[in-house]
Amino acid sequence: MTDKLNWDELDFSYTEVPFRWRAYWKDGEWYKAGLETDPQLPIREAAPIVNYGQGVFEGNKAYGTKDGRVVLFRPDEFAKRLNRGARRLGMPEVPEEEFIRACKEVVKANRDFVPPHGHNGAAMFIRPMLLGVGDHIQVSAAEEYLFTIYVTPVGPLYKSGFKPHDFVVDSEHDRVAADGNGDVKATANYASTLATANKVRKSGYADVVYLDPATHTKIDELSAANFFGIEKGTNKFVTPLSNTVLPSITKKSLLHLAEHNLGLEVEEGDVFIDDLDRFEEAGAMGNAAVISPMGSLTYNGNKHVFYSETEVGPVSQKLYNELMGIQFGDIEAPEGWVVDVDED
Ligand code: PLP
Ligand code: COI
Repeated sequence: MTDKLNWDELDFSYTEVPFRWRAYWKDGEWYKAGLETDPQLPIREAAPIVNYGQGVFEGNKAYGTKDGRVVLFRPDEFAKRLNRGARRLGMPEVPEEEFIRACKEVVKANRDFVPPHGHNGAAMFIRPMLLGVGDHIQVSAAEEYLFTIYVTPVGPLYKSGFKPHDFVVDSEHDRVAADGNGDVKATANYASTLATANKVRKSGYADVVYLDPATHTKIDELSAANFFGIEKGTNKFVTPLSNTVLPSITKKSLLHLAEHNLGLEVEEGDVFIDDLDRFEEAGAMGNAAVISPMGSLTYNGNKHVFYSETEVGPVSQKLYNELMGIQFGDIEAPEGWVVDVDED
């Protein structure tokens, strides 16, 4: 079946694979956890996920190493973020060790679909979801839950991979409400970004940058990634600090690697949209985005060019090499970051 897949030409789209993981929750307990083959979800029309968006999801990856192993990157962090969202949305938590076991099992079951090492960063995307299900039309938390994970081989999130892309600020809309929970990876947080995403992609932009919803003066993040800038003169790695930004695990990792492995100064703080000249380089970072250099950012019709529209800046290149090197097992990772799917 994998004969049909050209690993070098994968983009960020869905390919159906044989197995998915499911676990069900009712009356305080998880039951029937295991692999299933039907890609169709068993969801009722009166389910809170369908009616009220009661759901959280994750996005992580499995990577093929040079020596033929398959590894996960910081799965404990993805479990913790899912559970923080679960608490916020009144859902039962998925025990961290169960989350990790489920990721390993579903990846192993679909091992033939894990892109081998060395295909432009192609990897197996993992999409865990925790959904409020059952019949429950009251505007209150569901009484039944479904934890499900599908996996699918993917290439780069932004079309042509690791090269500079053009981005644009959405000056009309916010990604999330000013008072609310942008730091939770809730299904509902994404719906209001989708129409804009379509519009800007038609105009040739890779993604949308959102400003902070309270003052509209600072960069918050992108629709599917966090923002970073490399400060002119100092090479400081700067990324927005805001309670409406999703706490990216890639960002957390890069803050550590920039400081400890690359010897850069790092800062989480305000990034004013009127002060883009402050940065020599800029980019998006995330599980799917990895590091995606920003060639330009257009705001209110004005196009700001960073390092170059065609060349990747030297610091972005170093960050990319370090992160990808660790994720694909080529560079020694900090303790506990990389987990072999075959280890218990
Ligand atoms: N911000 C948003 C809105 C996202 O959807 C994502 C990706 O899931 C990120 C940031 C990056 O987070 P992470 O690095 O944990 O994938
Ligand atoms: C990821 O980066 O893994 C995500 O889940 C973001 C996404 C919405 C593509």
